[in-house]
Amino acid sequence: MSKLPFAIRNPALLDEFEPYLVATPFNLPLLDPEPFGMPTPPQNVLNPLALSSEPFLTLLHRLDGLTFGPEGMPMPRWVFFDCSEMPGAIYGLARRASTLWPGVRDLFKLPADFDGLVPVSMYVAIPMQRPGQWFGHNLSSLAPVFNKLGAVPLDLRGLGSLTKGLALQAFGVREFWGATQWTSKALHIHAKFGPLALQTAYTPAHSEHETLTYGFHVTEAALRASMGDPSVVLARPPVDFWLDSADVAGMIALQDRIEAGGRFVIPGAPRLGATGRAEVPIAELAAAAAATPHAGV
Ligand SMILES: CC(C)(COP(=O)(O)OP(=O)(O)OC[C@H]1O[C@@H](n2cnc3c(N)ncnc32)[C@H](O)[C@@H]1OP(=O)(O)O)[C@@H](O)C(=O)NCCC(=O)NCCS
Repeated sequence: MSKLPFAIRNPALLDEFEPYLVATPFNLPLLDPEPFGMPTPPQNVLNPLALSSEPFLTLLHRLDGLTFGPEGMPMPRWVFFDCSEMPGAIYGLARRASTLWPGVRDLFKLPADFDGLVPVSMYVAIPMQRPGQWFGHNLSSLAPVFNKLGAVPLDLRGLGSLTKGLALQAFGVREFWGATQWTSKALHIHAKFGPLALQTAYTPAHSEHETLTYGFHVTEAALRASMGDPSVVLARPPVDFWLDSADVAGMIALQDRIEAGGRFVIPGAPRLGATGRAEVPIAELAAAAAATPHAGV
């Protein structure tokens, strides 16, 4: 039985983990701590400006280090404050330390007497100027780390997708923007929300030049699809070509076509190419459908 009013891929995740929300008193009244009617326990709603939140915020920063560290993009603590806690919001799933498995306690280096909340996933987004328009800043799930260590005797499939879907609903996002690397496994998650409208295909403005910038409209169908509701099927344009995730010349060529006025989407998840590298599907939109940044999406 799902705790949500629709079926999801792995409902057990919501039995094993509890939601949390971090937001300042300025942002909190504009958020929904009960996405799709699923409450966040009041003690799990944390104010980043309060000293009492410090232990949990330290664990969130450690979660970022455990997930983005190996990707070469761990977040300095001041970035976490300036670009996440203060202007944005953080939503995710967690578990009380006393019920955690020993391998997870070790991973977080928890003191023996610590019995606070411990995050296993987080989604961070920052509101943009237009109401309802947000930029995704961080998606972290410890599922792959736990699976590798054999630290958790649970099926954790879908943890990252569920976290992003619930977070977008909790934040009230209507128009979403994000940036990710062509090689990122997270593209499998982002593509679940529907076709992704490409804004950049090669991004020297980012420290990782081989980054793409994408957007989509956040509809209820998109959110339900991301969490694995089997009753939702999203429309997706046919693939025109596949871009090798290491093909920098191909990224620059696609960037040139975008800057010349072409509109492209990533219509679905990457596939494993014959080279052993991921290949990302690309569809070109007709000019008539391409009048707005999120056109056709
Ligand atoms: C990316 C991340 C959030 C995924 O978390 P997760 O809990 O495994 O996510 P989910 O289970 O919801 O989905 C992962 C998807 O990627 C796919 N995937 C993961 N590794 C894969 C691989 N090596 N090859 C092919 N597919 C892979 C899974 O099959 C799954 O797709 P599916 O649901 O269609 O089967 C997690 O690995 C992470 O925190 N990574 C480090 C930080 C990062 O890169 N964040 C994203 C920045 S945009």
